[in-house]
Amino acid sequence: MREEIVLEALCVAHSEVVANLHQRAFDENWSAKEFQNLITMPASFGFLALKGALPVGFVLCQGDDVEAEIITIASDPACERRGIGTILLQCVLKQTQRLFLEVAEDNIKAINFYEKQDFQTIGKRPRYYNRGSGNHCDALVMQKEVS
Ligand SMILES: CC(C)(COP(=O)(O)OP(=O)(O)OC[C@H]1O[C@@H](n2cnc3c(N)ncnc32)[C@H](O)[C@@H]1OP(=O)(O)O)[C@@H](O)C(=O)NCCC(=O)NCCS
Repeated sequence: MREEIVLEALCVAHSEVVANLHQRAFDENWSAKEFQNLITMPASFGFLALKGALPVGFVLCQGDDVEAEIITIASDPACERRGIGTILLQCVLKQTQRLFLEVAEDNIKAINFYEKQDFQTIGKRPRYYNRGSGNHCDALVMQKEVS
């Protein structure tokens, strides 16, 4: 039997777990201390996805019921394309009327992911992401208005 995904509200006790998930999903490493600071910032909110006892994804946002931004979202690469990201995103979309984010222009799977949820590209931030060795990548600004 397939275990259901359960979401828990993100709290400071999740910092280590979330740092591990982030490290597995991204090239860039954010420490548990950095997550602790982000999670305790005013207007921070998010969710940890659990499959049984196993953490399989998370989303961290900043904002309120009018407007919010995704700071970061990831699912465990071992669980890619099993709907975990969608469950997290849909839960965030229930918390706010306008959700926006920045995504690297070369992150095709994330762009597909947001477009599938009807996010629109509303702008571009040139050279937003530092790729090292003097290389940069533009960011797309995407948003979704919840009617
Ligand atoms: C983007 C991410 C969060 C999606 O999580 P997920 O759990 O795989 O998402 P879902 O299973 O709900 O996938 C939904 C849709 O996303 C897109 N998608 C997900 N993985 C993809 C892949 N490897 N290639 C192309 N599209 C992909 C597809 O449109 C997919 O729908 P489909 O499988 O019906 O075609 C995940 O790939 C991830 O953690 N990536 C690394 C971190 C990252 O880039 N975060 C976003 C930063 S802005």
